[in-house]
Amino acid sequence: MNPADMPASVTLIAAVTSDGGLGASGRLLYRISDDMKRFKALTMGHTIIMGRTTFESMPSGPLPGRRNIVVSRDKSLRIDGAEVAASIEDALRAARLDPAPFVIGGGQIYAAAMPYATRLELTEIDSASPIGTDTYFPEIDGSQWQLTDSSPDLIDEKSGVKYRFVSYSRKNSLPLH
Ligand SMILES: NC(=O)c1ccc[n+]([C@@H]2O[C@H](COP(=O)([O-])OP(=O)(O)OC[C@H]3O[C@@H](n4cnc5c(N)ncnc54)[C@H](OP(=O)(O)O)[C@@H]3O)[C@@H](O)[C@H]2O)c1
Repeated sequence: MNPADMPASVTLIAAVTSDGGLGASGRLLYRISDDMKRFKALTMGHTIIMGRTTFESMPSGPLPGRRNIVVSRDKSLRIDGAEVAASIEDALRAARLDPAPFVIGGGQIYAAAMPYATRLELTEIDSASPIGTDTYFPEIDGSQWQLTDSSPDLIDEKSGVKYRFVSYSRKNSLPLH
């Protein structure tokens, strides 16, 4: 992709288990209230890019206060309150004027967006993926990414699950297009 067509930064935001698990049968593995609040605070006012499967998993349709872009190969797909892009590249081109768009999943779309990502905002859940997990975050290549921030360990009161918020930045400032 021509860098001039790209947003200044591209952030992948995800909640991952200790072995990279993201989802099972179209659903999230864990619902951590403070994680949902952080997701809302970070993404509010920005463009969010998601795969068609993730969009369909959202109970109330497009997320308010954000420009929703759904990636799908289905040329006939139309969604009230969201735009449809035919590829991650088309979605990023459409989002280029947002200085900080977010890719919000799922597994296929994270993998397609990884080469363009400049930042990762992850909620690391200190549990292995439950049986049935079928969707995983792509590998984070240590030669490409550096950990720039980490919260202390936190506990979700409802589930008792331990987790932390971590941020990674790409080591070379420009992503490989
Ligand atoms: N833990 C987290 O933070 C998190 C976040 C988001 C989602 N999730 C979970 O992840 C799972 C869904 O992930 P998923 O990998 O199955 O699906 P997904 O990435 O959400 O969406 C897949 C769909 O995106 C479209 N797509 C994928 N690659 C494309 C490409 N190169 N060009 C054009 N369109 C493309 C296709 O739509 P069409 O079939 O319409 O062509 C494909 O079926 C669910 O379990 C969800 O709960 C977890």
